[in-house]
Amino acid sequence: MPGAVPTSDNRSDSTLPKRWYNFLGDLPGHLPEVRNEGNPSPAEIAAKVRPKAILEHDRPAAPWVPIPQPVQDWLRHVGRPTPLHRARRLEQRLGTGARIYLKREDVLPTGSFKLNSAIAQAYYAAEEGRRTLVTETGAGQWGMSVALAASMFGLDAEVFMVRCSLEQKPYRRHYMELLGAKVHPSPSPFTPVGRELLARVPDHPGSLGTAISDAIQYALGKESAAYLSGSGTPHVYLHQTLLGLEVRAQLEELGEDLGAPGRGDHLVACAGGGSNLCGLIGPYLRARTDGADLRFLAAESTAAPRLTAGVYRYGRSDVAGFTPEVMGYSMGMDYIPPAVHAAGLRNHHSSAIVSLLRHEGVLDAVAFGDPESFAAGRLLLQTEGILLAPESNHALAAALGVVAEADARRQRPVVVVLASGSGLLDLQSYHDVGRPA
Ligand SMILES: Cc1ncc(COP(=O)(O)O)c(C=O)c1O
Repeated sequence: MPGAVPTSDNRSDSTLPKRWYNFLGDLPGHLPEVRNEGNPSPAEIAAKVRPKAILEHDRPAAPWVPIPQPVQDWLRHVGRPTPLHRARRLEQRLGTGARIYLKREDVLPTGSFKLNSAIAQAYYAAEEGRRTLVTETGAGQWGMSVALAASMFGLDAEVFMVRCSLEQKPYRRHYMELLGAKVHPSPSPFTPVGRELLARVPDHPGSLGTAISDAIQYALGKESAAYLSGSGTPHVYLHQTLLGLEVRAQLEELGEDLGAPGRGDHLVACAGGGSNLCGLIGPYLRARTDGADLRFLAAESTAAPRLTAGVYRYGRSDVAGFTPEVMGYSMGMDYIPPAVHAAGLRNHHSSAIVSLLRHEGVLDAVAFGDPESFAAGRLLLQTEGILLAPESNHALAAALGVVAEADARRQRPVVVVLASGSGLLDLQSYHDVGRPA
């Protein structure tokens, strides 16, 4: 497989985008200035560990960025465009007048939307001559995607996985290792920052903040390594705009006029680092500004309720200070989110872009605990036969709330839910949460 670009694909679906959409020009205000203090500064660190083309994707010069042909080919090979599924049986069970659509990222081979950006980033790293991809992962979905994308382009992968998730979800580790990736728990005894955290809190469960710090420090010390982020940065959001672009084309094909007046249409996604959310809504920001009757709803975990209960302030996404300080809704730098099953939502600080959308009133937010979100997931399995990841269940629970409110107001909205991942490797979590106490 390494380096090869698949050629046997016979699908040529017109809804597969050939360009990513740079929605930065459509934001509702100016992003507050980024603080780059440190020695070396986060900007200097990024310049060293991140491939140049990926850094350029943080501020593209034009509104559209062409997707390189090999990336397009691999995206088609793994199953893009993914289906937009009308959840009619769920609608019937709810007795709702709403039309509920699921954007089915759970059908991708690594079980989540994370593959979209992993393929793009691995491509650019390989083009630049990097040999090892180093990254962090929460639930393991991003780690699996990086491991697969690395193998597509003949690269090695090393993944720092949040310790409590590694213990809860060992199968994701097995998948990564099958592809030849090395998986380390975070906090990690392999890095100075990990050792310091373990000295302070020996049974530290880890968080995305610790894993980012471990991964960056490790990448800095490794020759020809590229550090990749799975979320939280504008370049990942750019790559994920495939989601909104595909949804737009698919709804158009179905004759759905999203944002029609008086209906209260919604786009709903869960929010950890914000990439499935921004990928979905980014291409729709302009329509909303132009007056479409369209709401954007973020579903977070009560384990890290930044958008619903956090404070808008400067903070970083890692605990060691390798990433820049950005204005964002935050739980505080020392906050250790409880070890919920929705591991991909355990971020202590929201990204600048998600936070700006929230601050400017463009984004609504709601928080759910594991029990409510898993109950929503179970309902979907029983009605549609689709088993979603714990993170995606949060979006589903939020959508059920939207639908109930719309029914009470006798509205019949279109509600698009980003089904960000599959729950087939999370059955233990379903069992644990669903089991009577
Ligand atoms: C299945 C799934 N959905 C959603 C998320 C949240 O990530 P983001 O907020 O970047 O979309 C994750 C993160 O690990 C995930 O694995």
